[in-house]
Amino acid sequence: MSTQPIRFFHRGRLVEVNDAAPTRTVLDWLREDARCTGTKEGCNEGDCGACTVVIGELPEHTDTPDAAVRGLGLRTVNACIQFLPTLHGKALFTVEDLKPAASSEMHPAQQAMVECHGSQCGFCTPGFVMSLWSTYERHAACGTRPSRQALADDLAGNLCRCTGYRPILDAGQRMFDLPVAQLDTAPVIEALRSVDRNDSFERPGFHAPKTLAALAALRERLPDARLLAGSTDVGLWVTKQFKELGEIIYVGDVTELKRVEARDGELWIGAGASLELAWRALAARWPELTDVWLRFASPPIRHAGTLGGNVANGSPIGDAPPVLMSLDALVELRRGERVRRMPLADFYVDYMSGGSAAGRPAAGARLQDQQALRLRHFSRVRGFLDRARRRGGATRPPGLRRHGRGGQARGPRRGGDHGPALDPGHRERGQGGFGGRLHAAHRPARQRHVPRAGRAELAAALLARDPAHEPAAGAGDQRLGRDAAHCRAGGGLT
Ligand SMILES: Cc1cc2nc3c(=O)[nH]c(=O)nc-3n(C[C@H](O)[C@H](O)[C@H](O)COP(=O)(O)OP(=O)(O)OC[C@H]3O[C@@H](n4cnc5c(N)ncnc54)[C@H](O)[C@@H]3O)c2cc1C
Ligand code: FES
Ligand code: FES
Repeated sequence: MSTQPIRFFHRGRLVEVNDAAPTRTVLDWLREDARCTGTKEGCNEGDCGACTVVIGELPEHTDTPDAAVRGLGLRTVNACIQFLPTLHGKALFTVEDLKPAASSEMHPAQQAMVECHGSQCGFCTPGFVMSLWSTYERHAACGTRPSRQALADDLAGNLCRCTGYRPILDAGQRMFDLPVAQLDTAPVIEALRSVDRNDSFERPGFHAPKTLAALAALRERLPDARLLAGSTDVGLWVTKQFKELGEIIYVGDVTELKRVEARDGELWIGAGASLELAWRALAARWPELTDVWLRFASPPIRHAGTLGGNVANGSPIGDAPPVLMSLDALVELRRGERVRRMPLADFYVDYMSGGSAAGRPAAGARLQDQQALRLRHFSRVRGFLDRARRRGGATRPPGLRRHGRGGQARGPRRGGDHGPALDPGHRERGQGGFGGRLHAAHRPARQRHVPRAGRAELAAALLARDPAHEPAAGAGDQRLGRDAAHCRAGGGLT
């Protein structure tokens, strides 16, 4: 097997790293090897945003080529859970990059933080500045300014324990009043074009195929290798659980997996599409999902993490599977040349397990376009209700529902059509009641703080609630409108 150096753009030039382990994190490399200590380590698990950096990529390698900033795709990620080899062919921007070397001036994002008193102890500040910089570049490129709410959404992955968010949001608005300072993307693009990303990238223990066919072939050759996408789950196995991952197959360079397309009345979401793009596509069709989208993790996690990873990890509390199940999603799996489609509802057999499909690279999820969705979302017990009025053009009797549930059983679950059982008259409790039947059907998981019966009762209460009390459809429309307008204005990832 060939061993290629990891080549990426950093601090104005292409750097080559030869000796990094496959799971060396970007943050450790920055602080310990490159001695760029501006980027801080807080939680080391993707939560606090102290380690926020910006990744630059050629548009053709991103899932949102039309959102590029002067020819370069930019997105915030958490350096603490990204592995260094995944940077191959990309650019890494940190807080050290913002101030031009020969200048004593600060970048508008930094200057505004000073003027608005946006920093006290300063530990979170480089992370905030990088999120602000990404917002600044995106908006400055198309002559727009974010609303205060849009800024707050962009900063949702950065925590500050001492300053408070008002001055930081003030800084986010103030930076657009200062003299313009935009990134010169030309040298970055030129450098990235000189790194060949057409062939598979191979290093000991790390394999990054470029096509779906190459991925499928590699999977057959290395059936025990760990598939890696955005590493927002897998990264924590290394930084928190100190696991050895063995051979890694990185799927993040397979462009075919990143597509999101409307095809023949179906929405196709590639397994490698970022969570941000996938939720954007879902919320565009079902605006009720906008709030789930914006509450899912944080922008840096949604930029790195994929829908495929959320489906494949089999977590009982993953947010996407209940939604996709209530929409009757099919998943597409591939082994070698064989492609298999199955209802997502049949995919999970046990805790954190994709059952018979385990080990196959997931290619994506298909959804019927024409369904009306009603949504209820709880933080611990998650219920997503779908009132399927139309499906495939056929009209269903009103009141028929399917639902997806997370955080209750050993895996995500889809309920059947519970039409009559949802009538107010069927709210009786006990084994024969709806809660009891749900209990029997789904065997809610037992956890210390919530007994099984409690989970079933809660789900039953959720499902049996009078439709008249459901939140008005389109509650998220206003924010979606904001984002849609922003997209049209050339903005991309939040
Ligand atoms: C701070 C933080 C907040 C989070 N918040 C949320 C949240 O609000 N809601 C939520 O649901 N999740 C949340 N997560 C979990 C995580 O972001 C998601 O599960 C994410 O979708 C995982 O995708 P990934 O691309 O990062 O997967 P990875 O971490 O790369 O992989 C996850 C699993 O999926 C497998 N896999 C990946 N791609 C494929 C594929 N194409 N085919 C087959 N198997 C594959 C991997 O082998 C691995 O087992 C959070 C995580 C963090 C760190
Ligand atoms: S150190 Fe907290 S998100 Fe990375
Ligand atoms: S300034 Fe101290 S954590 Fe934000």
